[in-house]
Amino acid sequence: MKHLIDILDLSPQEIMELVNKACDIIEHPAAYAHKCDGKILATLFFEPSTRTRLSFESAMLSLGGQVLGFSSANSSSAAKGESVADTIRTVSCYSDIIAMRHPKEGAPLVASMHSLVPVINAGDGGHNHPTQTLTDLLTIHKEKGRFDHLTVGFCGDLKFGRTVHSLVGAMSRYEGIKFVLVSPEELKLPRYVKEESIKKRGIPYEQSVSLEAVMPELDILYMTRVQRERFFNEEDYLRLKDSYILTPDKLQNAKEDLRILHPLPRVNEISVTVDNDPRACYFKQVQYGKYIRMALILKLLGMD
Ligand code: NCD
Repeated sequence: MKHLIDILDLSPQEIMELVNKACDIIEHPAAYAHKCDGKILATLFFEPSTRTRLSFESAMLSLGGQVLGFSSANSSSAAKGESVADTIRTVSCYSDIIAMRHPKEGAPLVASMHSLVPVINAGDGGHNHPTQTLTDLLTIHKEKGRFDHLTVGFCGDLKFGRTVHSLVGAMSRYEGIKFVLVSPEELKLPRYVKEESIKKRGIPYEQSVSLEAVMPELDILYMTRVQRERFFNEEDYLRLKDSYILTPDKLQNAKEDLRILHPLPRVNEISVTVDNDPRACYFKQVQYGKYIRMALILKLLGMD
């Protein structure tokens, strides 16, 4: 049985197969409409979500399967003090595959040790978010036609942004990658991510507090929200929340074929006036999230 807890659980070859499968699903949705007839996906969300949970549910429904679950810890027995291990043991009796989001780092890993069915990490605290990364990778491949020889800029909350940690890990395995890390001093990429995914692999990288200064070299700009819920005090959040706001004038010296990604939700960090720029990809990214999750469900259920 296979789980997806960390994006590095998938080899680059498996990622390519998932991307190809998602592209085939986009081309031939009817061919997949009954692949998961009779199967049940459980979505256990102990933290808020719009896109991740609904795209998982939409993915399973579009494969002919069914869904059950909860969308807040308050409405599950976690509120009575039940452990993750016991909740998972229970839900895995009622479902064939589980997608789980939890505020504690490592909770989906613990869940996978107690589950009778595959577990997918749908975001664990400020740690990882592998299925957002699959979404980001499908978007990059669709837009750029490759994963290699790209200068990838990450901007915003690189400390708490779990989507950043997983995407840095995934991209570090391709040739000719350069990372540009743009954040306030307090929100820099955690040391463990930098050591494991950048320094150990000898990947060139640059750190900057100015987005404008590095804009001309970027092929991909990955904007992120400042993660309010992970701050210890509101004052720090208020001071840092508007550190970067992408506006059309900041894009003036960007490459013509730059692609702007954002995992969403957006708060203030991309002005809505950027939405119509042909380089903005974040709403396409939302759409791709469903198809790559369909491909992933098929793979983990052994139905591909
Ligand atoms: C991200 C997350 O939950 O980490 N959202 C998502 O799943 N698309 C990003 C965020 O919340 O900022």
